[in-house]
Amino acid sequence: MEKPHFLYHDSIQPESEPDTASSPAFTVSGLNRFLHHIQDQGLFKNSNISKNSNDRTIFLIDSFFQKEFNPGSHPNIPKNALFFWMSPGEKSKSLRSVESIWKWMVENNVQRSDWVLIMGGGTVLDTGAFAASTFQRGLNFSLIPTTLLAMVDASIGGKNGVNFLSNKNYIGTINLPRFIATDFAFLDTLSKSQILEGWMEMVKHGLVHDAPHWLELSAQEHLPEKRALIPFIQRSAEIKQAVVQDDLLESGARKKLNFGHTIAHALEGLAQRSDIALTHGVAVGIGMIFSLEFSSALSPSGQARSHFDKARQRIQGWLDEAADVGVITWAKQCNPEEVWRHMQGDKKNRSGQVLEVALKEIGSATWDQPMELGQFLAVWKVAMS
Ligand SMILES: NC(=O)c1ccc[n+]([C@@H]2O[C@H](COP(=O)([O-])OP(=O)(O)OC[C@H]3O[C@@H](n4cnc5c(N)ncnc54)[C@H](O)[C@@H]3O)[C@@H](O)[C@H]2O)c1
Repeated sequence: MEKPHFLYHDSIQPESEPDTASSPAFTVSGLNRFLHHIQDQGLFKNSNISKNSNDRTIFLIDSFFQKEFNPGSHPNIPKNALFFWMSPGEKSKSLRSVESIWKWMVENNVQRSDWVLIMGGGTVLDTGAFAASTFQRGLNFSLIPTTLLAMVDASIGGKNGVNFLSNKNYIGTINLPRFIATDFAFLDTLSKSQILEGWMEMVKHGLVHDAPHWLELSAQEHLPEKRALIPFIQRSAEIKQAVVQDDLLESGARKKLNFGHTIAHALEGLAQRSDIALTHGVAVGIGMIFSLEFSSALSPSGQARSHFDKARQRIQGWLDEAADVGVITWAKQCNPEEVWRHMQGDKKNRSGQVLEVALKEIGSATWDQPMELGQFLAVWKVAMS
């Protein structure tokens, strides 16, 4: 599969227009400039999209933008473009949502020569890309990530899909977009807790693959201001791209990106059943605290164990700063036997064995580490104390 084209832009700079505190910073004119920029780069053209073409652009957009974004007012959007507004969130990341997109596509006679542009947070990108990848055996699509987590992680690597029967990301495909276009202006409307979501995945990239990146991130006692995030975003996205490029189908090294995710997905499954508002990034943060403790239990090196301990404390500090205290307390008090039962259904398991990712040292990871119930319970007790 061909590597997607990456485009970074900042429509706040230099032609910034003042925004009222209450309106999203990514205004209609901002989006216009961004779409113009995408067009200037020849990306629409390369994708067979031009204003003169009969082929249509099919926008699947996070409903967060519905109030601000009037498609009719965009000179850069082809007149025959179609718009489908998608509800974000884990509950909407479902076969039901996919079915409603498919039905709408049938009603609008969407064809394989049409082009899908999916814009939103990670749940919208995962669901929309799955719908596009499966409709008529696959439509071409591109991504515009609008949350930090989507910019550094969910838009990269071709994984898409939905949750199924309380199991995270159980149904899906691996299918790359044609381009990924990021506009840093989208950062401006994110809350601190939304920054934490993406920050946790950036931290993971450093811990498993790039010690200097981790050192830069861990130097931040507090979550950085939005504009200060920009250089970290690009580095983190590069790390993810570098890892997935060599192992798109996750037969080896890509597995290290699942660091902290076995616990995270188990907790997310339990949270969904109990109607607890546990978000993915927070679940990954708690999962990494567990996986760092697991790494310590395996490591013969006192120096590595001390680095893992410091990393645990840093992650806990960021969680304390921006996550919901009630949700963290709920997660840490989950019945470990129940968490284990969920882990036994994890899609990374082989031959009935729960497999975990562990760090050898900061910046280097090992995967497919078998974990037994007794070992899990011992690590859980220390990690969640
Ligand atoms: N495919 C992958 O490789 C991959 C990797 C990591 C995570 N994920 C998935 O990503 C999902 C989490 O994504 P997320 O954290 O973006 O959550 P999300 O999609 O639920 O978005 C969070 C909220 O932010 C809102 N939003 C979107 N853009 C905004 C903006 N610019 N300003 C303000 N609010 C905005 C959304 O409407 C939503 O309410 C999880 O389902 C996770 O499994 C996928």
